[in-house]
Amino acid sequence: MAIEENLVDEPQAAQKLEREADAGFLWDFWYPAARSAEIRGRGLLKAMLLEVPLVLGRTDAGAAFAMRDSCPHRGIPLSYGRFDGKNLECSYHGWRFDGCSGQCVEIPSLTSQDKLKVERIFAGHYPCEEHDGYVWVYLTAAGRKAADSSPQSRLERRPDAPKLPTFSKQYKSTHLACDLPSHVDQGIIGLMDPAHGPFVHQSWFWRSKSSIHEKAKQFEPIPSGFRMGTHSPSTNSAPYQVLKKMTGAPVTTTIDFVLPNMRTEEIHSGKLWFSSLTTVTPVRRDLSRIDFLAAWNVPLPVTIFRAFAKTFLRQDQQTMIQQAEGLQHNPRLMLIDDADRPAKWYFALKANLIEARRTGAEMVHPMDGPVTLRWRS
Ligand code: FES
Ligand SMILES: [Fe+2]
Repeated sequence: MAIEENLVDEPQAAQKLEREADAGFLWDFWYPAARSAEIRGRGLLKAMLLEVPLVLGRTDAGAAFAMRDSCPHRGIPLSYGRFDGKNLECSYHGWRFDGCSGQCVEIPSLTSQDKLKVERIFAGHYPCEEHDGYVWVYLTAAGRKAADSSPQSRLERRPDAPKLPTFSKQYKSTHLACDLPSHVDQGIIGLMDPAHGPFVHQSWFWRSKSSIHEKAKQFEPIPSGFRMGTHSPSTNSAPYQVLKKMTGAPVTTTIDFVLPNMRTEEIHSGKLWFSSLTTVTPVRRDLSRIDFLAAWNVPLPVTIFRAFAKTFLRQDQQTMIQQAEGLQHNPRLMLIDDADRPAKWYFALKANLIEARRTGAEMVHPMDGPVTLRWRS
């Protein structure tokens, strides 16, 4: 058997690229694949990102790894195999792959007569990092999977995986996650949608529908995204009023959205702060997952914060489940000014990034400069 048989042929790879482009996923970015705690000892964990089946594990030396959950020999999921703390052995013919590089280290059926260069065979393999309690995986574009572990690609510049910002040594933190039965785009525009609050998030502790009023917020372009500039948040939200009373200092918040899927929020008041990192990750084209990470030094018990955050997330999830029901029938949709302008920017950022990658030219930002958006919420 020749090594070449391991490689995907060109037309097939092109078709695959096209299919994957159609799914509207953004490749060459970090995505959270699983919670760190889900990988126990030498156990293997199945995950899926951007319709790519993954097997995750951690070596005895403590390095998390992510391989395509498919043996390059006959495609059986590698997650059925055995992991010895360094190498993963396929359950079918016992080929062994180094967890950290995906490189094949042994093919048991070979005899001393065989010329096959075992070390030139790679299982699909993705850069992997662990922090903030998550296993982050860098999803490289289609067709480059087998080559991804080559020394050249390791030298390729890759941004660091996203991190939750923190502002003091001591702080509390928590995380929540929930599945959305929709395409990642719907999840993301839902995440940045300023007009649904009074309707979806009506709660005694937050605000009521009757508190709806006109708002004007400053937005500015930032690399691959936009920022809702530091401002004093909604004065009709009880938690902000409490915070202001506690510190006597003004409350400011900054909310950033950055491609492919990330919303970060920072709230400061005197020495007290709260930060969060929310991502919407495509699992499949019809399934996404919201991961919400928060940290704070505000005197607020984790249990109480979680109860509030869960209520919020559940309200969003419930709405998206209902929306998915409607989207099954391919309705025509609308984006209106100014309330849906962030959604328009998201689609424009995404389109411009894809175009820039296609042409090799620098990415054009859809915003010319700072702009004030007005809406009622
Ligand atoms: S299918 Fe994995 S070793 Fe043959
Ligand atoms: Fe919401």
